Amino acid sequence: MHLDQLKFSGWPHILNAKQFTRPWIEKALFPLSYKMETGFANIRHLLGGKEMFCVFSGESTRTRASFEIAMQRIGGGVPFTSPMAKLSSAIGKDESIADTVQTLSEYGGDVLVVRNDEGGHPLEVLAADLSVPIINAGDNAQKDKQHPSQALLDVYTIHRHLGVIDGLSVAMIGDLKNGRTVRSLCYILSKFQGVHIYLVSPPEFAIGDDIKQHLESHGVTFSEHVDLREVAHLADVFYQTRIQKNLGSKSWDRADESRGFTVINKKVLDLAKRNSIIMHPLPCNDEIVRCEVDPDPRAIYIKTKNGKPSQVRCGLFTRMALLATVVAPENACLLL
Ligand code: NCD
Repeated sequence: MHLDQLKFSGWPHILNAKQFTRPWIEKALFPLSYKMETGFANIRHLLGGKEMFCVFSGESTRTRASFEIAMQRIGGGVPFTSPMAKLSSAIGKDESIADTVQTLSEYGGDVLVVRNDEGGHPLEVLAADLSVPIINAGDNAQKDKQHPSQALLDVYTIHRHLGVIDGLSVAMIGDLKNGRTVRSLCYILSKFQGVHIYLVSPPEFAIGDDIKQHLESHGVTFSEHVDLREVAHLADVFYQTRIQKNLGSKSWDRADESRGFTVINKKVLDLAKRNSIIMHPLPCNDEIVRCEVDPDPRAIYIKTKNGKPSQVRCGLFTRMALLATVVAPENACLLL
């Protein structure tokens, strides 16, 4: 592959799932992620000691762990990481995320991974001034809340398990109003053909009109529902989400069926297609009845029973691919 084909709009920053094209997803992201999964000679030296700095203002397990592990697995280093930045950095002394990010970029690293759950400066504004690539690991500071690396790992997971994206029916369930993963995933799915999205949530937690307009203008059909059982037999992918309390959502009682039915349980499994998959960006609270769903081979969020990587493992491979792409593009190109 030629270096130019590896570059996406907004290069080298990863800020919004809108940045990526279908050819880039299919010809760069999927094969690179698969290479990371299956391994190749010198994989542990791919980045030649390049450095990543992380600032996470907001809780995280998988996103931070997988970025840090990914960097080290392919020969990079993580000399600075600030989990729970309010407790571990000057953000706790009311320093702006802008000053934190600009300070780190002065230390000359090769990529900055930032989660901003606080609000304040949108990463897109910060990135405009930075020479170091910045990766949005979950941003709550702008109206268009985004989590692009999650959506890329989600689409890789779907492709890895079902082999196609075109023509799929995807049920997105839960807090669609404040969930940034569903917003980013809608952008990514809108690049494919014949996708239908079932949006399942109580009406107060419906996805934003901006996303509905985006889907309409990109030819993605969608329908809104309050009861998952109405559409469970039609979905190829179940994408469950929790209530985003940390991003401002008020809790609702999922057991109260007058608010709708948005839980994945045995009843839903009985209705679901035999070859569907059940995904969740995690963390999971009470929206999946784990003792009923975890043993089912269709549940792929943490473990699988078919030898293919789970969604969380796909996250590691996708983030290895993304880091290689922005930090060592010449080397990444040689893999394609
Ligand atoms: C998501 C997030 O932070 O937006 N988590 C994650 O990165 N996997 C989803 C969530 O917190 O519910």
